[in-house]
This record gives sequence, structure tokens and C-alpha cells, in this order.
Amino acid sequence: MGKVYVFDHPLIQHKTAMLRMKETNTKDFRELVKEIALLMGYEATRDLDLEEKQIETPICGTTVKMLPSTSVAIVPILRAGLGLVDGMLELIPNAKVGHVGLYRDPETHEPHEYYCKLPADLEKRRIFVVDPMLATGGSAAAAVQFLKDKGAKNIKFLCLIAAPEGIEALQKAHPDIDIFIAAKDDHLNENAYIVPGLGDAGDRLYGTR
Ligand code: PRP
Ligand code: URA
Repeated sequence: MGKVYVFDHPLIQHKTAMLRMKETNTKDFRELVKEIALLMGYEATRDLDLEEKQIETPICGTTVKMLPSTSVAIVPILRAGLGLVDGMLELIPNAKVGHVGLYRDPETHEPHEYYCKLPADLEKRRIFVVDPMLATGGSAAAAVQFLKDKGAKNIKFLCLIAAPEGIEALQKAHPDIDIFIAAKDDHLNENAYIVPGLGDAGDRLYGTR
């Protein structure tokens, strides 16, 4: 069974609190999402495999441990997931980036795919699926299923705010994946928005409505 990690780091809690505030503007919201992704990514990559390499320092030859070149792929769920990519790429600049486009139907809240472009060597990589919000869990579960259908084997899901309903649904659909969360919220409202949440993450990132 995959694990659920809720980050209690003070910096992550502080920045997540600022993200929630309705007066936080688009520019600050975007910067905060990037900063939180970087902080969470540092922890979420803790168990990446390393390989031994023989190198020369100015003093002598030595064996060091490094990330293999085919180590990681970051897969944002469009569109709001894009906000987390730059923070992750600052940590792992050589990561490949795949994109899965999903939107939630406003009536049924069911996810619909509109775009999918993934690295060819997906099966060799540790995949981090990223999205700020895990509400009903429908989008995350569908994205993970796409990736599995295309051969991905080693998937983790990283989000900022999760509802208990979404965590349960994602775990039920994909019991093998670890889930990393900055904050676990209380419940979903009648429109399947997270309470207290932060509103519509895509709109707040991109200034749309
Ligand atoms: C939001 C969010 C997730 C999804 C979560 O995206 O970024 O992808 O909703 O909801 P769920 O867990 O109930 O599926 P949205 O569909 O609003 O699209 P957007 O990113 O284009 O704004
Ligand atoms: N999508 C969002 O952007 N926010 C929510 O609270 C739920 C789904």
C-alpha cells in the first residue's frame, strides 16, 4: 500500500496559508506555488535511486553517487499542475516533463482528457504527477491510469491541498502510489470544491475566472 505524507514543515505551512488568502494576487500565488513545489519536491525525492560513478577530483580518482540520467519525469495535470513544474525542475533540471490535459466537467465533476504527451522512456523513470488540488480524486486517478496504460511503473502523486474524499478515492483506485500533500483539508462542498481550500487553483494561477 502506498503511503500518504502530509508535510508539517513550518515553511510549507506558512506558504500554504498565504496561498489560501483571497487577497493573494496572481503573481504572488504563482510564486508561492513554485516555492512550495520546490520544498515538497526536496522531500518527495528522498528515495530516488543513485548509481555509482567513477570521477576524478583535483586530488584523486573516487567513486561518487549520482542520479542516473533517466531518473525522473514530472507530469503536471493541465492546467493548474503547470504551476508546480518549475519548482520541481529547479531541483531536477534534467527531468523530462510530460503533460496530461484534464478538465473537470462543472456539472458531473468527472475528468475529461483533452491532451496527452509523455516521454518515450516512461517505464524507466520515477514519475511525479503534480496538481495543486486533490478534490474528488477523479482527475488524479484518471491521470495515473493514463500513465500506467502507457507503461509507467513507478508513480508518485504530489499536490498542495487534498480533501479526505480525494485521498481515499486515489488510494482506492491506485493503492500502489505514494501521495505527498502540503495540507489535508476538511471536506468537499456541494460543488466538489475543497473546504477551506483556496478556491479554483487554475483561475488563481492564471488570473482567469
Ligand atoms: C482542478 C485541479 C485538479 C482537479 C481536481 O482542475 O487542478 O486537476 O480540478 O479536482 P478532482 O480531484 O475533483 O478531479 P480543473 O479541472 O479545474 O482544470 P484547470 O486545471 O484547467 O483549472
Ligand atoms: N479544483 C480546484 O481548483 N479547487 C478545488 O477546490 C477543487 C477542484
